[in-house]
Amino acid sequence: MVIGKPLFTVEQIQKRVGELAGQISHDYEGRELLVVPLLKGAFMFASDLVRAIRVPLTIDFLNTSSYSDTETTGEVKVHCELRDSAKGKDVLIVEDIADTGITLDFVTKKLQEQEPRSLKICAFLDKKERRTREVHLDYVGFEIPNVYVVGYGLDYDDKFRNLPYIAIFKKTA
Ligand code: IMP
Ligand code: MG
Repeated sequence: MVIGKPLFTVEQIQKRVGELAGQISHDYEGRELLVVPLLKGAFMFASDLVRAIRVPLTIDFLNTSSYSDTETTGEVKVHCELRDSAKGKDVLIVEDIADTGITLDFVTKKLQEQEPRSLKICAFLDKKERRTREVHLDYVGFEIPNVYVVGYGLDYDDKFRNLPYIAIFKKTA
């Protein structure tokens, strides 16, 4: 297994997260947010993001997974429900990476059933060329090519989430 050089450094990440939080704070001025990070991958991004958002908010988590090894299974597992209904709330889903779009498509549909006032998505990374489901991303940190990345919450086999930067991951044969 090889961890390559940082694709995005700690400094680049910090700067971009600050910009996203600024944009979100502006867009939701005078409102209150329900932030829904998708675990486990989005935990680090979400914790940086919410610390920089300047509107009142609450946080609730959804635990999703669709990966085995480095290939998506196409089946999304949602391990827990929101504690309180999203009905009437301004909901912001926070995801580590939009890949095929299956996870976000699934979660969006599930949350829409609860009739939120609004529902938007903030994804730290966007691997656009892999998309098989159409999902609208309202806020994106960085677009990346079709490479497998780890760090800043993202894993390979549940490891490397603790790297403070994003790196390209290569499996040695
Ligand atoms: P999707 O449902 O195919 O869009 O997959 C989204 C999920 O797959 C993300 O929440 C990640 O947990 C995982 N994933 C997709 N690409 C990568 C990657 O390059 N590194 C680590 N995890 C990834
Ligand atoms: Mg994930």
